[in-house]
Formats: sequence, structure tokens, C-alpha cells
Amino acid sequence: MQAFDDLPLRTKRLVLRPLQKHDDDALFRIFSDEKVMRYWSTLPWTSHEPARAMIASDLAQTSRDHLRLGIVRSQDECLIGTCTLFNVNAACRRAEVGYGLGSFAWGCGYMNEALRALLDYGFRQLNLNRIEADIDPRNEGSARTLERLGFTKEGYLRERWIVGDEVSDTALYGLLQREWKSES
Ligand SMILES: CC(C)(COP(=O)(O)OP(=O)(O)OC[C@H]1O[C@@H](n2cnc3c(N)ncnc32)[C@H](O)[C@@H]1OP(=O)(O)O)[C@@H](O)C(=O)NCCC(=O)NCCS
Repeated sequence: MQAFDDLPLRTKRLVLRPLQKHDDDALFRIFSDEKVMRYWSTLPWTSHEPARAMIASDLAQTSRDHLRLGIVRSQDECLIGTCTLFNVNAACRRAEVGYGLGSFAWGCGYMNEALRALLDYGFRQLNLNRIEADIDPRNEGSARTLERLGFTKEGYLRERWIVGDEVSDTALYGLLQREWKSES
């Protein structure tokens, strides 16, 4: 896998950049919100510690197995979410995508705009062949986000997650490089 060059990514309304030390408050605001975490793979954060650990781990990253970018709204420089390529498998040229947006910024098409830039970077700059997403089948907003980007729903995995005391299923989506390039 190539180095993560040519960052940050810029779109019409957003800048996508690696997390910085001072992002802990903004991250806590986003990921402590029960609405945001309803279908997440962990419980809502109850302290700043996970934010600090996430930032420290990203800043110290020596392996190239994930690329997490903070989503910053250009107009007010507010960090409104994150999007990540993770579990990067260089041999198979494959990665997973994950994303979360503060509920104060939902419904404005921001995640679509951010993921267009991240997926384009993944397919063109990193030359990934396949990007997949594992979502809770009940997460309609997330499913809609993936469908709008051209992902295909490929599978259904039962009782794949246990978060707190809730057991939930996975809907698995996939998007191929040739599909992305033919659409954009
Ligand atoms: C899912 C999420 C990323 C969508 O981001 P967003 O920027 O608000 O999405 P958009 O404004 O582009 O809306 C996407 C589509 O989903 C629809 N949508 C958004 N929230 C919805 C909801 N709660 N229920 C049903 N549809 C919803 C929108 O109407 C839109 O549909 P359209 O394309 O037909 O217009 C955001 O709601 C989020 O971060 N949720 C919490 C974290 C999360 O669940 N992440 C995914 C984990 S796999």
C-alpha cells in the first residue's frame, strides 16, 4: 500500500484532514451522542479518554492499515465527523469504510460529499480494488448513503455484533474500483 500522500482532501464545503491533538472536544461531542451511536460498534463515549486515545493512535500510526480523516466544515472550521478507510489489505487491494457525523450536521448531504472524496482517494490514489461497508440493517440513513454512492448490498450476516447487551446483524455492502471509475 502506498503512503497516504496528497492530504488534506478538499470538497466544495469540506476539508478532510488527519485528526489533530486539539480535536478531542469536538470528537467527544460527536461520539458521546446516543443518536450518533445508535448503530455504532461501541457504546456512546462517556469521557474524553477514547477521543484522546484515537488521536494519539492516529498520530503515532506507523503501519498503513487505516486512514482516518476528520471532516471539517470550511465555513466555520468546525469538526463535524470522521470517515475512515480501515482494515486495509494491501495484497487484496481491499479496505473497509466507516463514517460518523455529529447529529447537528445531519441531513445536509455532508457525508455523501466527504465519502465521494475519500472513496475517490481510495480507488485512484491508493489503487484499491474493493471497498466494503458493514452496517446495521436498521440504519436507514447509512444504507441510503451507501446506495447513493453506488454500493451494492451483497450479504446479510446474522448476530455479528454484540454492543452492550444488544445483539445485531450486519448488512454487508461492496463497491468495486471499476464501478466507481465508470460512474465518475
Ligand atoms: C448515516 C449518516 C452518515 C448520514 O449522513 P448525512 O450527511 O446526514 O446524510 P445525507 O444528508 O446525505 O442523507 C443521506 C440519505 O439518507 C437519508 N437519511 C438520513 N438520515 C436518515 C434516517 N435517520 N432515516 C432514514 N433516512 C435517512 C436522507 O434523507 C438521504 O436520502 P436521499 O439520498 O434519498 O436524500 C449520518 O446520519 C450519521 O453519521 N449517522 C450516525 C453514525 C452512523 O450511523 N454511521 C454509520 C455507521 S455504519
